[in-house]
Amino acid sequence: MQVKSQNLSEILLPVQAEINTLDSRLINEISPSSRALCTILQEIFKAGGKRLRPALTFLFAKALEPSKPVSEPIYLISEISELIHTASLVHDDIIDNSFLRRGKPTANSKWDNAITVISGDFMFARAAVNLGKLGVNEITSLFAQVLEDLCDGEIRQVEKKFSTDLDWDYYYSKSHKKTGSLIQAACVAPAIYYQCDPAVIQSCLVFGKNLGLAFQIIDDILDFNSTTEVMGKPALCDLREGNITIPLLYALEDSRYSVELKQKIELLSNSLDISVLEEVSMILKESSAIDKSFQKAQELINTAIEAINILPESLEKSSLLALADFIISRDQ
Ligand code: FPP
Ligand code: MG
Repeated sequence: MQVKSQNLSEILLPVQAEINTLDSRLINEISPSSRALCTILQEIFKAGGKRLRPALTFLFAKALEPSKPVSEPIYLISEISELIHTASLVHDDIIDNSFLRRGKPTANSKWDNAITVISGDFMFARAAVNLGKLGVNEITSLFAQVLEDLCDGEIRQVEKKFSTDLDWDYYYSKSHKKTGSLIQAACVAPAIYYQCDPAVIQSCLVFGKNLGLAFQIIDDILDFNSTTEVMGKPALCDLREGNITIPLLYALEDSRYSVELKQKIELLSNSLDISVLEEVSMILKESSAIDKSFQKAQELINTAIEAINILPESLEKSSLLALADFIISRDQ
């Protein structure tokens, strides 16, 4: 029983009410005493976003415990993952000196770095407060690990800028830490909270881990394949910043392109030349690198889908399956 539609709002219909409640909590209830900070946080959350991580938590909660209404602990978990996600993007936009996100000006483009960093810090702090309120040790450890992973993944990416001797272990480990770890936590936390059978917990984890990696791969592809207008953030940004993503890794493995690509990446590491950037993008489009990356993402999605066979049929399970397909076909 799989929802065939690829429209995100249709896929998320079974948890739209919960997402709306979460949105209102994020916009209206995270109120630091500083008015300036309060305004920034409200503007950031009003800028929207797919709310993918909370949606996963709500869908798993309802798929695992169909008879239980979504209760405060599940809202706390959803809020934790969106707070951590948003905070990491606020900090990331400062690191990347990025001025556009979700089609809107970033916080660092509107306010100075000091207050922008603190607004991200405040979100991390509120996530920690929520973990305290939840009071489930295993979930605290889960999200503490996510925070460590985010920092570790981000620093490894910074350290490897413009490096062309990266291996696949580096790519998958960095991608899991930067992106997969939080998505995995959002998927597995409800099963831990409901003290599900270990096999069920494991299947939620495998779903989240594979979905998270596929999500990052599609992000890497879109950076070369999409436009700033469609994505709501600048295109061709990864290589501009020196991030060697999966399409480049595949192309660098191909002897027909590797020498030329290494030369161009070396040139870009010395100075940003838009024509060189576009030449690299052309090489990737000519090569099979983007197709191979897409195939890899599809394999990961298939593993994710298979992992949740164990769950009983429900509208929410259908949405999880459709969401996995949506991740592959998304354009932003
Ligand atoms: C987006 O990467 C960034 C992330 C997914 C994570 C960034 C993590 C940090 C800044 C560390 C967080 C700090 C703490 C204290 C936990 P991207 O630049 O590749 O993607 P983008 O194109 O969406 O900007
Ligand atoms: Mg960035």
